[in-house]
Formats: sequence, C-alpha cells, structure tokens
Amino acid sequence: MAYSVPDLNYAYDALEPHISEATMRVHHDKHHQAYVDKANAALDATEWEGIKPIKLLPRLDELPEEIRETVRNNAGGYYNHNIFFRSMAPAGEGGGGEPAGKLLNAIKDTFRTFEVFKETMEAAAMSTFGSGWAWLVHDGSRVLIVTTTNQDNPITDGLTPLLGVDVWEHAYYLDYENRRADYVKAWFEVVNWEVVAKRYADAPVPDVSHILQRPVSISGTQRVFGELTLDDARTQSAELGALAGWGPMAKVGSIARAWGELAKNLEGRGAATVADLEPPMIKQAALDLWIIAPERGMI
Ligand SMILES: [Fe+2]
Repeated sequence: MAYSVPDLNYAYDALEPHISEATMRVHHDKHHQAYVDKANAALDATEWEGIKPIKLLPRLDELPEEIRETVRNNAGGYYNHNIFFRSMAPAGEGGGGEPAGKLLNAIKDTFRTFEVFKETMEAAAMSTFGSGWAWLVHDGSRVLIVTTTNQDNPITDGLTPLLGVDVWEHAYYLDYENRRADYVKAWFEVVNWEVVAKRYADAPVPDVSHILQRPVSISGTQRVFGELTLDDARTQSAELGALAGWGPMAKVGSIARAWGELAKNLEGRGAATVADLEPPMIKQAALDLWIIAPERGMI
C-alpha cells in the first residue's frame, strides 16, 4: 500500500504561539504531502512499493540506482516528518516540561542533567549546515545526539530515532525568519515526552536473560545474578574491597569497585534486584564484574 500523510493528533493552531497555524498548514499539508507523493511515485510498481520506511531506509544501497536518491530523500522525508509531527503536543497539554522515569535516567546518564541535554540538542540543531535534523537516538546501550543532513535518518546507521527536530527553513521561517535558535527553544515547549518515552521503551536493547541467570557466589552462598539486591552488592563490595591489594587476586580492586558501582545504580534507580535495572546497565555490570566475558573487540 502506498504511503499517506497521517493526520495530526492536534489542531493546526494548537501549538501556538510556539509554532503557528500557518507554519503547520504548509509544513504538514504541503511539504509532508510532497515527500509522500514523490516517494510513492518512485516506488510505484517496484518490488519495494509499500515497504515501510523503517525497513526500507536501512537497505537503500539495494535499491535500483535510478530511484535510490529520490527514495532516500522522500521516503526519508516521509519517515522523518511522521516522527516530528507525532512528537509534538500543545504546550501544557502533553507538550513541554521534562521527561520522566527511565527516559530521564537515560538522558541523565549521558548528559548529566536535562538542561545540559537541551543545550546540546540546541547546539546540534544550530550546527547543522543547511537543511537537516538534530536527533536524540538510542544506540542499543545509551541515548546520544546526532545530526543528519537533508532527509537522512539515523536508522540508516543502525540507530533508533527517539526525537527529531526539523531544522529545514520550511519548519520555522514563517514564524522565526532566520532565528533558528529561537525556533528550537520554542519547539522544546511542545515536545511530547510521553511519546518519546514510549519510543525509548520500544528501542532494541541487548538480550540479558542469559546474564540474569548466571550463578554468583555471595558470602559463600550460590545465587543468581538477576536476583541480587542492593545489600548483596554492598556486601560484595565491602568483602572484596577488604582483599584489594592482596597480591594473588590481581583484579579484586576493580571488581570491588564494580560491585560498589552496581550498588550505586541499584540505589539510584530504586531497583529491588539487578533484574529491575535497564538491560544495557545489567550488561555493563556483568562485564565489569567478570560475570560474562568481554566480547571480541572490547579488550
Ligand atoms: Fe520539514
């Protein structure tokens, strides 16, 4: 089935004063529609027709050369704008404010504070020369900010887009003329963090089920890694810490510190057991504790 422009979840004027009705009408009804029409025309009657952009964009190099650039720009434009329009809501009615829960934790793990994240996103949006996008993405273990030019999407590089700000002039020129920085600041007032959090929750993460089942000896008792608690981690940290510096156990100091780090993460996340932590964090802890072996290329 050919692509079509999804309806907005809000009225054209609902994002005012941050983004005007005039901008929304031309952006959604004209620009987004144009990407859809051109993508459909290029893919019509080919074996690629109707394949969703999320499957199509990572395989652009397999497309016939004569349609590759058109598809890249227009299926990309279609996909990017789907993400963009779905990521906004009227200020105070789902839009603006700060994320919460696991998404906020992930943002703080990378950027330290939400404010630093915003500043970095604004700087990324300003750094894009010409037309493009700044993105918050998930790389399988953490969140990062990347930029793309034209209508490229991070999915082509194996990253999961969580949030994207459109910095093509058509996104802001009617409202902000050449003041892109003012537009990006205003756009934050209408970001729908609930939608972004859902994308974060759905992003592919490492399968840690086998790690959670690994046996671990705590004070002489055989346990399973996933069931360990804050007290267990503190006990291990203290017991191994006391052995640090003892010649025959060369790695004990770093492993004691890794147990301390795990205790800090369990406490910081309010997690009852290791299994309640985010999978990337579980995997990192298991590596640092030598519960699983490093993968090829990691040492
Ligand atoms: Fe756009």
